[in-house]
Amino acid sequence: MTVAPEEFAPPVPPASEVFADALAHLVSDTVERQRILGSGAFEAIGEGAEVRLSSGRTMLDFGSYAVPLFGHRPATVTRAVRAALETLPTSTRLLTNPYAAALAARLAALVDPGRLDKVSFGLNGADAVETALKLAIARTGTPSALAVQGGFHGKSMGALALTHDPLRRGPVRGFLGDVRHLPLEPDAVARAAREAPFAALIFEPVQGEGGGRAIPPELLRRWSADAHAAGAFVLADEIQCGLRRCGPVSVSVSEGVRPDAVLLGKPLGGGVMPLSAVVGTRELFAPLAADPYFHTATFGGHPASCAAGLAALDLLDTVAESLPAVAARLAAGVAALAASRPGSVVGVRSTGLLAAVEFGDATVAGLAVLEAGRRGLLVGQSLSRPAVLKLLPPAVTDAAQMDRAFAILDAGCRAAERRAARSG
Ligand SMILES: Cc1ncc(COP(=O)(O)O)c(C=O)c1O
Repeated sequence: MTVAPEEFAPPVPPASEVFADALAHLVSDTVERQRILGSGAFEAIGEGAEVRLSSGRTMLDFGSYAVPLFGHRPATVTRAVRAALETLPTSTRLLTNPYAAALAARLAALVDPGRLDKVSFGLNGADAVETALKLAIARTGTPSALAVQGGFHGKSMGALALTHDPLRRGPVRGFLGDVRHLPLEPDAVARAAREAPFAALIFEPVQGEGGGRAIPPELLRRWSADAHAAGAFVLADEIQCGLRRCGPVSVSVSEGVRPDAVLLGKPLGGGVMPLSAVVGTRELFAPLAADPYFHTATFGGHPASCAAGLAALDLLDTVAESLPAVAARLAAGVAALAASRPGSVVGVRSTGLLAAVEFGDATVAGLAVLEAGRRGLLVGQSLSRPAVLKLLPPAVTDAAQMDRAFAILDAGCRAAERRAARSG
């Protein structure tokens, strides 16, 4: 349930003005792509699984960086945020913030009760990654980490050191810390431990930007045991796959991996506010017990974000109810797409509400994004594997919307193939 947008009557500037400002002062290539995707209009109002544009047209949203898991503008979340804004729109940081306290307690009780007991809040996923990495390095005294080939953990400097994306690492390579990226082999962690010590192993149980690839649970359990045997921490980055996007609240905990921290973000703020969290063991958080100012940030635990987080957690049961049906339709949709486009689609994968369509050619994938956009569907390419389109439907997507999305995607793929054939 969303609140009628008419209640807010947002000012709608002319699109020409918006694009002139954005092209002049933001990253112009990105804005130009957005202009094409919106057919010259900008995003105006989010509503459930759809976004209404300034032109009045609506688009289905299977993109949005995986944020609107509960749909756009869930009423319970926007209400909770408004209530916080009316009373405590920011925290003194010198006094105890009841929203942060309540959300920390809820997360500790939810993610891995009794084991993952301490919480640190940030605003972006990369904040959570940076915090967890910094704590692990400080606690072990070892300035080195293991990550996974194909893994994505963000683009701030510490997070980028863990991200396996040669293109984005290249320009700042000399400034990135010591990280070894492992192949998906059972012995990889034990082998790395024999070569040199490390503070932490970080992985995504389901790689999002790496192309929707689920890492086998038995591999994660073996790696986790080997990392622990080497005296290192295990960090599960569930910023994209967690909070029921891929089924469980925590994929790694549900698979018996026993991480020392689960990192959450994206939908944690209810798709309304920026919020991320490290939910970890007391052992990992020990450097903060020794020095509470070892890691702080001005807006950490922001009351409005934590109010949104509390309302978001209340929605997780609703997601659990709708997820099997929506996930089944999504899986059936990508399978049918692969069957109908054997010339361009080389593989599909899906885990819960995260599906991937792999094209033989990244150019066709890029064109398919544009052609789907023209027809009313927002999807994105995987950041580290541009030949892969990621489909991230909100849990509120109904059967008719799912059918519409796949009809658009099929037509978009056909058009992309034709355009690629003409230009190639
Ligand atoms: C698994 C994972 N970790 C970390 C991040 C970084 O999050 P943010 O962009 O909010 O900093 C992302 C973003 O896509 C992600 O998918």
